[in-house]
Amino acid sequence: MQDPHVIRDAFAERFGYHPRLIVRAPGRVNLIGEHTDYNEGFVFPIAIDREAFVAARSRPDTTFRVYTAQFDQEDSFTIDQIERRPDMPWANYVRGVVKGILARDLPITGADLLISSDVPLGSGLSSSASLEVAVGYAVQLLNNINLLGEELALLAQGAENSFVGVQCGIMDQFISALGRADHALLLDCRDLSYRPLPIPPDVRVVVCGSGVHHNLGNSGYNERRAACNEAVRLLRARMPKISALRDVSVASLTANADLLPPTILMRARHVVTENQRTLAAAAALERADLVTFGRLMNESHASMRDDYEVSVPEIDLLTELARAVPGCYGSRLTGGGFGGSTVSMVTISAVDGFVQEVAAGYLAQTGRTADILVCRPSEGVGRATAV
Ligand code: GLA
Repeated sequence: MQDPHVIRDAFAERFGYHPRLIVRAPGRVNLIGEHTDYNEGFVFPIAIDREAFVAARSRPDTTFRVYTAQFDQEDSFTIDQIERRPDMPWANYVRGVVKGILARDLPITGADLLISSDVPLGSGLSSSASLEVAVGYAVQLLNNINLLGEELALLAQGAENSFVGVQCGIMDQFISALGRADHALLLDCRDLSYRPLPIPPDVRVVVCGSGVHHNLGNSGYNERRAACNEAVRLLRARMPKISALRDVSVASLTANADLLPPTILMRARHVVTENQRTLAAAAALERADLVTFGRLMNESHASMRDDYEVSVPEIDLLTELARAVPGCYGSRLTGGGFGGSTVSMVTISAVDGFVQEVAAGYLAQTGRTADILVCRPSEGVGRATAV
C-alpha cells in the first residue's frame, strides 16, 4: 500500500510546490473471460489493491511535466505538439491520454504530474491501464471536465489503441475506472452494461506472477485479434448477420467449422466457449458454488493453452502447482498471456499453505521466484487523501 503523504512530499520536492490533488487507479485481475472483450463478449474481472497514483497540479501554460518514480525519468511536452516517444515507453500512456482529451475538444491547460505505481510491470495485471485511467482522471479533475465511468475507460483504451499501438479491448480500463470493493464485475463488452457480483467472504483471489514476460506479447496479441476478425469474415458466408464472435454459438461454430482453416478454428473455438464459460462461472459464483467456478477456471486455462496458444510452460506449471494444493478450487492464466500471471481461487484457511507450496514448487522446478499476491477486490479510480 503506497502512502499518499509520501507521494505528496515527493511531488513537492520535485516541482517546488504541493500538488492540488492526488488520484489512484487500480490494476486488475480477470477471474475468467479472456480474449473475449474485443470479440464483444463477456469478462469477469476485479480491481486489485495495487494502484497507480498520480499527484497533479495545473500550470498556467500549455506544458506538461511528468515524472515517474518507477524509472526516475521525466518527460515534458506541450499540448499543441504531442508525438509518440519511442525512447520512453511509459510516457506514451500519459501523452496518449492527454491527446485523447484534446481530441474531444475539451479545453485543458498544462500540468505537473508525478506518478507512483506498485502495479507490477509486464505481469498481466494492467499496469498500463491503471496509469492511463489515473492520468485521465487527474487531468480532468484539474480542468473541471466531467468524463467519468465508461467515458473515462474509453478515453484510456483509445490512448492505448491509437497512441501506444496495442489493439486491446475495454476490460482493463473499464475495471480500473469502475471496479467495486469486494465484487467482481460481469461486463458485457458489447454494450458495456455490467453487474457487480460479491466475492464470497470465505475465498481469496490469489495471483502468482511467473516472472516471465515475452516481448512478442504485443504482436501476438494483435495477431490473435486479427484471427478473430478473420473467423467472423469467413463465417459470414453462411451467417451474414453476425458482427463479432459474440454472435456465434458453440453449436453454430461446430456446424460451420469447414469454413475455417485449422488455426482460425482453434482461435474462434476458444472465444466462443470462453463466453459460455464466463456466463456459467458468474452464475456459479452468484450461488456461491466455488467448485463449479474452479472447474470452469481450469477449463478456461486449457482452452487458452491449447486453442488460443497464449500460455507458456512456466504459467502451465504455476496452474498445476496451484491445483495440487487442497483448498484451491481452480487456477488459470489471467490477462493477455505470453507470460504474466495466474489467478487462483483459494479457500481462506488454505491460503498460507498455498503461498508456501506454490512458491517452493516453482522455485524448485524453474529456479525462478513467483511473485504471489493475495488480492483484495478494490474500488475503481478515485481521489486519494493527503493534500
Ligand atoms: C489484455 C487486454 C485486454 C484483454 C486481455 C485478454 O489485458 O488489454 O483488453 O483483451 O488482454 O483477455
